[in-house]
Amino acid sequence: MTDEQLTVTDQRTGRTHELPIEAGTIPAPQLREVKTGDDDFGLMSYDPSFKNTASTRSAITFIDGDNGVLRYRGYPIEQLAEEGTFLETAYLLLFGELPDSGELDDWRMSVTQQMPVPGTIEQLMKSFRDDADPMGMFISAIAALSTLYPKAGDVRDSKARLLQIRRLIAQAATIAALVYRRHHRLPYVAPDEELSYAGNVLRMMFKKPGEPYRPEPVLERTLDMLLVLHADHEQNCSATTMRGIGSSLADPYSAVAGAAAALSGPLHGGANQAVMEMLEEIGETSRVPEFIGQVKAGEGRLMGFGHRVYRNYDPRAKIVKQVVDDVFAVTGRNRLIDVALELEKVALEDDYFVERRLYPNVDFYSGIIYQAIGFPTNMFPVLFAVARTAGWLAQWVEMLEDPEQKIARPRQIYIGPEEREYVALNER
Ligand code: CMC
Repeated sequence: MTDEQLTVTDQRTGRTHELPIEAGTIPAPQLREVKTGDDDFGLMSYDPSFKNTASTRSAITFIDGDNGVLRYRGYPIEQLAEEGTFLETAYLLLFGELPDSGELDDWRMSVTQQMPVPGTIEQLMKSFRDDADPMGMFISAIAALSTLYPKAGDVRDSKARLLQIRRLIAQAATIAALVYRRHHRLPYVAPDEELSYAGNVLRMMFKKPGEPYRPEPVLERTLDMLLVLHADHEQNCSATTMRGIGSSLADPYSAVAGAAAALSGPLHGGANQAVMEMLEEIGETSRVPEFIGQVKAGEGRLMGFGHRVYRNYDPRAKIVKQVVDDVFAVTGRNRLIDVALELEKVALEDDYFVERRLYPNVDFYSGIIYQAIGFPTNMFPVLFAVARTAGWLAQWVEMLEDPEQKIARPRQIYIGPEEREYVALNER
């Protein structure tokens, strides 16, 4: 019990109530004690879009939005991006500690071995139209996995759960590759157990039939780093969806498919695609002031800018911006970088963006790198989903093991009609 209290006086009754303050929060259920009489339901808090509501205690990811700080399990994102790998980061997110070299080898092998997907998924890919949206294909295939693994619903069995986790992290990569290959009419390529996770993503996507494939080291390392940067971001829209679906004890494949659907929108994981489309549309630096003027006039948003939590430079965006030149040294310069740099410069000097504290987020520069590596624009959200699968699963396990969590079920303020009589069809 905390010593800090919030004392509130209910002007309707004159009564005073004490609410405990813990970690800067008050327990919303205790508002129910603030009521006018025995038949009063009691107060609720009203918070559309959860702008000021903590829905969980979490030990996974820490963000200080004012100071641009991001840590996974206490480790600064800059250090993980510089020195860690994606599978090491996934392990850290899921199990709370960095693996030693033996644990990492076992983990990498056990994930890689799960990469081949059941034949049904390859069949499913063939059934999509030529112009099917990659994210829709990804979501469908992940959901379809739930029909193929009978123990998927045993979410209280930690051993079964671990198997589904390994499968999901592994097969998210394979499904992403299959989506790409379906669009390019290329056959399935098996993973290589010697390669890193990012190396296998590149191999399974880009290997040409009958030709050997070795991932280009700088691109493999950069992709791995992008996966690290996207692996988790605490209680965002898709993580909240994952927890919400998981809270009904649905199987993790269905929950990841739902989380991926939440990610797909342009305000969330679809932003990296939207940024590239915006940069293409602007086309050249001379058109930047005109575009900024349109944004300020309310005609669209500067995609890749702004964040609900960061009111400062997104630390992920800083890291991505730093590696752009290394990638270009291998791939050649992506001309859209000049448009992006000019956009950032103009926006950061403009009162509209300064007053609203809008800075580049992770998606502002990541698309330029994805494009340089060779991914088509409409695959960017899929790559985001592949990385975030690790974070969703860590959030899901934490939710299942948290005795405070029950099925997610917000309240509402009903604003519809009062009770009224049904009117027969022929009398309306
Ligand atoms: N361009 C222009 N104006 C903006 C932008 C933007 N990108 N973002 C916010 N604003 C304005 C907004 O119009 C509002 O102005 P006013 O107070 O005059 O009405 C003010 O800033 C506050 O915006 P908000 O919509 O209330 O902020 P939010 O916290 O609800 O939205 C956001 C956060 C990320 C959805 C929003 O900043 C946005 O739409 N950004 C562009 C999309 C984007 O890049 N999304 C990727 C987020 S990072 C990856 C991820 O984690 O998903």
